[in-house]
Amino acid sequence: MATQWKNVDEVKPGEVLADDVFDGVSFTLILRKGDVLSEETIELMKKRNVRRVPILVEGEEEEEAIMAREKALVKREDFALPSAPPTVSEELYNESLEVMSEVVNKLFETEVLDKDRVRSVASKVVAEIFGKQRNVLNLIKKHAKGFLYKHLMNTGIIAGMIAIEMGMPVHEATRITEAGMLHDIGLAFINTEIKSDIMKLDAELANHPAVGAKFLRNAGMPIEVTDAVLFHHERWDGKGFPMGLKGKRIPTIARIVAVADAYDTLTSEELSEQSMPPYYAMRWIVSNSKRFFDPDIVSTFVAMVGIYPTGTKVLLSDGREGIVIGRSEKLLKPIVDVSGKTIDLSKEESIWIVRVI
Ligand SMILES: [Fe+2]
Repeated sequence: MATQWKNVDEVKPGEVLADDVFDGVSFTLILRKGDVLSEETIELMKKRNVRRVPILVEGEEEEEAIMAREKALVKREDFALPSAPPTVSEELYNESLEVMSEVVNKLFETEVLDKDRVRSVASKVVAEIFGKQRNVLNLIKKHAKGFLYKHLMNTGIIAGMIAIEMGMPVHEATRITEAGMLHDIGLAFINTEIKSDIMKLDAELANHPAVGAKFLRNAGMPIEVTDAVLFHHERWDGKGFPMGLKGKRIPTIARIVAVADAYDTLTSEELSEQSMPPYYAMRWIVSNSKRFFDPDIVSTFVAMVGIYPTGTKVLLSDGREGIVIGRSEKLLKPIVDVSGKTIDLSKEESIWIVRVI
């Protein structure tokens, strides 16, 4: 079997999803890999602004399609942070994914959450982040199975890094990492039987923060974690859900998880062709600061990530190549050296960085 990407207007009832489908605005999983599409679920995708849909088709993947995909992957490699060490070692990352997959599977089967294992992974992650130099966010995104586990782990790692960057102590950073690792756990309880009823499904999806938080509360998780889960889809402008809380009324931990969730969602290949390289993801987050996100947390995040650390080679919009030699007051428009000439991109409106090379 192979995957064919179709426009949402072209898909038909009866076709099967080759991968999970996500809402691009609220970062919510709306349909799962293997789901058979119906009129209602197609409508749901349109309503949730899904444009391209991965459809399972008979036969081997066309050679042309394979080449296009590989080309796209190579292109993505170009965008990866250059030779930076991973934020969390490959060994711990793989171990964490294994644990999360076991924890979520057990949860599916028994509705029991293995809190101690989640805690232990979060502690190890935070210990590694604390031991590393700052300003390196380089997540391992390859060799992992299952989008949800990767997404939970990455969100946990990023949330933990932001907490540390904000000066929080180890135990708080660990809580925040745990919260990131569990933020979408409510999705595990969505009743897939009701997929034929768009109204009910929509309501059920909108409930995943509340369902997750309630479950974690019953499992004895502390309030910071349940708050993060309950409020991770709230927006700074008050237009989020489930409560429509605005600004600092949203608990800090939930505001941190929201930024981490967005960054990993935007940069994950599994999220369809709409996934973007780190620089563009960062730009999207920055441009939606104050609308979706707490601007202070976004600033901390941008300062921490160092998309253009000193020494990074970049391609400029006028076709020239340069090397970043310092930061300007605009984090996304650093000072670059182009053939021995210093250019402060923050002062050049018509020149910007196209990509890292
Ligand atoms: Fe969510």
